Amino acid sequence: TGLVTLDPGFVNTAACTSGITYIDGDAGILRYRGYPIEELADKSNFVEVSYLLIYGELPNKQQYEEFAQRIQRHTLLHEDLKQFFDGFPRDAHPMPVLSSAVSALSTFYQDSLNPFDDQQVELSTVRLLAKLPTIAAYAYKKSVGQPFLYPDNSLGLVENFLRMTFGFPAEPYEVDPALTRALDLLFILHADHEQNCSTSTVRMVGSSEANLFASISAGINALFGPLHGGANSAVLDMLEGIRADGGDVDKFVERVKNKEPGVKLMGFGHRVYKNYDPRAKIVKKTADEVLSKLGTNDPLLDIALKLEERALSDDYFVERKLYPNVDFYTGLIYKAMGFPTKYFTVLFALGRLPGWIAHWREMLVDPQRKISRPRQVYTGQPERSFTPIEQR
Ligand code: CMC
Repeated sequence: TGLVTLDPGFVNTAACTSGITYIDGDAGILRYRGYPIEELADKSNFVEVSYLLIYGELPNKQQYEEFAQRIQRHTLLHEDLKQFFDGFPRDAHPMPVLSSAVSALSTFYQDSLNPFDDQQVELSTVRLLAKLPTIAAYAYKKSVGQPFLYPDNSLGLVENFLRMTFGFPAEPYEVDPALTRALDLLFILHADHEQNCSTSTVRMVGSSEANLFASISAGINALFGPLHGGANSAVLDMLEGIRADGGDVDKFVERVKNKEPGVKLMGFGHRVYKNYDPRAKIVKKTADEVLSKLGTNDPLLDIALKLEERALSDDYFVERKLYPNVDFYTGLIYKAMGFPTKYFTVLFALGRLPGWIAHWREMLVDPQRKISRPRQVYTGQPERSFTPIEQR
């Protein structure tokens, strides 16, 4: 009824009100619950930021400890859930493995099915935060044919994840505090970004009153694509491609500008930021620190720096306000840490999880909540009569 407005990709249409994350794309500002991302990156940690996003305020000491301990207590996966990993091909992409395992949590925790049961929502929240790192580590272990490690609940979330990923059962694993801190920082930077594709997906699926696990599983699948979370892997593939082709960034930039099919400057551009992505600034600095700490002399960093410089001084990118986004340098850090390229998007999912949860919960108690149901503009055939198959 009435006029519908066509807005492909929701460029101008707000689907909800939200009090979680503020972005000013022209000024390059990002705040979680009012706190500037730079301050959180400098002074907070991922578990604390998760609390802030989900509950709206920074925790006091007691609230923080209780929250961290609850997460630590729920890191184990059900033994039967572990068998899922046996069924996947060894070379499976880890993102669908992750979303399948999260979807399966609804079958193990059937009390979670009612999204209006507050206690269950609390439990599902903690279970997700605790178990996704374990699921992610198992997806990695399966891909390299190594035994799964049970979580060590004396460790913090990120440390535990690194140990389960890179450790071996019979050997003590020395977690490098600088690397733990770097990954924790990257998780903070990814923790929320208001109505991006995956978060909108989580809200949309949740708007039908599907439970938290089902909604987050859908969000993970939305994140998988190369225009969204998959961009961090795509950047590395792009840099490798440039190196294999002789390392000529000018040549690559010309191909981008000529709009060769499938050729984009991955890790550049953003729907909202028309200025340097504030997260990318922090990531660039972290990349420098991590690579020099590890003594890694990655020639791809040099290509990335040249590519950035070249693009930022080229009219094509200047006119379109295309700047590096969060994904431009993250892949180089993940690579230096030892993660394989196709695993990078899993790290994005681990970071984005608290944001998805916060949005799902905000959506559910919103007095204006309605099932998500966009309109369309029909462009198909007018009414016509059915022709029997013999006459076609
Ligand atoms: N390389 C080359 N040209 C680009 C790029 C790019 N990375 N991004 C945008 N453009 C051009 C685009 O071709 C268009 O040009 P024209 O006006 O001549 O047709 C113009 O810039 C506007 O782009 P758009 O496609 O209308 O912008 P959008 O808001 O729909 O898309 C985007 C945003 C992030 C999908 C896009 O910039 C892109 O594909 N970037 C590369 C993938 C990427 O890095 N994604 C990660 C985004 S940040 C983290 C996340 O959300 O996951």
